Amino acid sequence: MDLKGKSALVTGGGVRIGRAICHMLADAGANVCIHYNRSYDEAVALRDELEERGVEAHLAEANLMSETACNELMEKAVAMMGPLDILINNASVFNKQKIDDADMDVWMGEMWPNFFAPAQLIRAFAKHSEKGGIVNLLDRRIESLDASCVPYLISKKALAELTRVAAIHYAPRITVNGVAPGAVLPPPGKDEQYIKDHAGPVPLEVQVTPEDIARAVRFVLENDTLTGQIIFVDGGQHLGNG
Ligand SMILES: NC(=O)c1ccc[n+]([C@@H]2O[C@H](COP(=O)([O-])OP(=O)(O)OC[C@H]3O[C@@H](n4cnc5c(N)ncnc54)[C@H](OP(=O)(O)O)[C@@H]3O)[C@@H](O)[C@H]2O)c1
Repeated sequence: MDLKGKSALVTGGGVRIGRAICHMLADAGANVCIHYNRSYDEAVALRDELEERGVEAHLAEANLMSETACNELMEKAVAMMGPLDILINNASVFNKQKIDDADMDVWMGEMWPNFFAPAQLIRAFAKHSEKGGIVNLLDRRIESLDASCVPYLISKKALAELTRVAAIHYAPRITVNGVAPGAVLPPPGKDEQYIKDHAGPVPLEVQVTPEDIARAVRFVLENDTLTGQIIFVDGGQHLGNG
């Protein structure tokens, strides 16, 4: 897909990796709806930056913890931009919880934003849009059995499987792909030392950046022959060296 003039919704687009994806889309000439939950100020600042660069940029608030909120977000985005061409399921939470710590509230706290919301948004996108591309942000851990963050891990593994099922279900009209980052940024509130202490060995000995992730998102969106693919952008970490 040529991204120029296309309409994209980026969940969690105001900060961090989502922000880099919004900038990438603007670089490619796409118009962007920046979804935010708590990061209103950052989302407003990003919208203003993108508009100064000559692309159409919109804001849409939603707490993605219910089917209604997901459907309302899609309807808001469509009301502002018309049927979307691109959906980026980027919003997510990450908590370290072992199986024994995971009561139902803990499970739902990860499963809703990380899996159920993307699943509902994919469905809503396919209802409104005849054609387009969806990219789900995953995690290199989907190749692992990391027992330190089980609800998070399972939510991302589920989204990886949904990526492949949705890819075949929605072909030929919509492509559905995944980008699986390694350790890019420390969780909000932690510093760079957190990555050094927790990320484990990276075979290529590189630090993955938000812009590396955004470039991979662009690659899958622009290539009309890709669907059901999961691109690991992790310096080779998913290969199992730790
Ligand atoms: N950072 C990494 O190193 C890393 C590594 C592996 C995978 N990933 C994946 O890459 C993607 C981006 O990573 P990131 O670190 O930039 O993400 P993040 O900062 O952890 O989360 C992105 C945004 O998700 C939104 N969000 C969280 N809960 C929400 C809810 N209930 N309703 C609506 N929005 C909600 C928040 O938006 P507001 O701020 O507006 O509230 C948050 O800023 C995620 O899917 C993540 O799992 C990241």
